[in-house]
Amino acid sequence: ERILSGTGPLTGVKALVTAGPTHEPIDPVRFIANRSSGKQGYAIAKALATAGAKTTLVSGPVDLAPPPGVKLVRVETAADMLAACEAQLPVDVAVMTAAVGDWRPESRATSKLKKTGSGAPSLTLAENPDILATLGKHARRPRLLIGFAAETENVVAYGSDKRTRKAADWILANDVSKGVFGADTNRVHLISEAGVESWPELSKDAVATRLADHIVKALEKAV
Ligand code: CTP
Ligand code: CA
Repeated sequence: ERILSGTGPLTGVKALVTAGPTHEPIDPVRFIANRSSGKQGYAIAKALATAGAKTTLVSGPVDLAPPPGVKLVRVETAADMLAACEAQLPVDVAVMTAAVGDWRPESRATSKLKKTGSGAPSLTLAENPDILATLGKHARRPRLLIGFAAETENVVAYGSDKRTRKAADWILANDVSKGVFGADTNRVHLISEAGVESWPELSKDAVATRLADHIVKALEKAV
């Protein structure tokens, strides 16, 4: 596959995409993770790079090949993902598709927890930083900041609430009540200040291309 660098509509634009789950270690052999294939984020990074953007993909552990022309930064935890994102600033556009773990074990055991014969250990959790919300109020906030919202009910209402709470420009809200994880298609609602645009069920590649088109238009307007 050929990437025509320096010729697309996003030439000169710097893009940041997060993708995949985070792994929050309990001990050296165990972790808490979210369900996420990374496919939608990888597709978006690919679409942005194809449109000419200088694209960095900050990815949690997934089983996908990095898209050609994209700079891949591999991370494990939410804390690492936040640090890797902040290291990329300033960027023109950021698309946060990662399924970031909301919580992590408060402490990480340095050696493997063993069965003691006296019952299961209990885990105390601590809240992870919110990467999207941190970028939303950042001194070097991306010009266009886009989040996802995975919801099982009240998809548009919850998505819209996240848009305001996290100071994102757009939220792509998707209904995960039926088998989106690992699937090749997605049904999303694009929530912006202007309102809600519901897209039909599309392949994750088509969602990515359509989003890249919207990004091109929004960045043109902002000039
Ligand atoms: N997100 C993030 N950092 C977090 C949690 C979420 O950057 N610690 C981002 C996701 O990448 C996504 C958006 O915020 O773009 C919404 O994620 P979601 O899990 O749907 O939202 P939460 O605020 O965590 O709310 P919920 O309680 O519904 O999980
Ligand atoms: Ca969450």
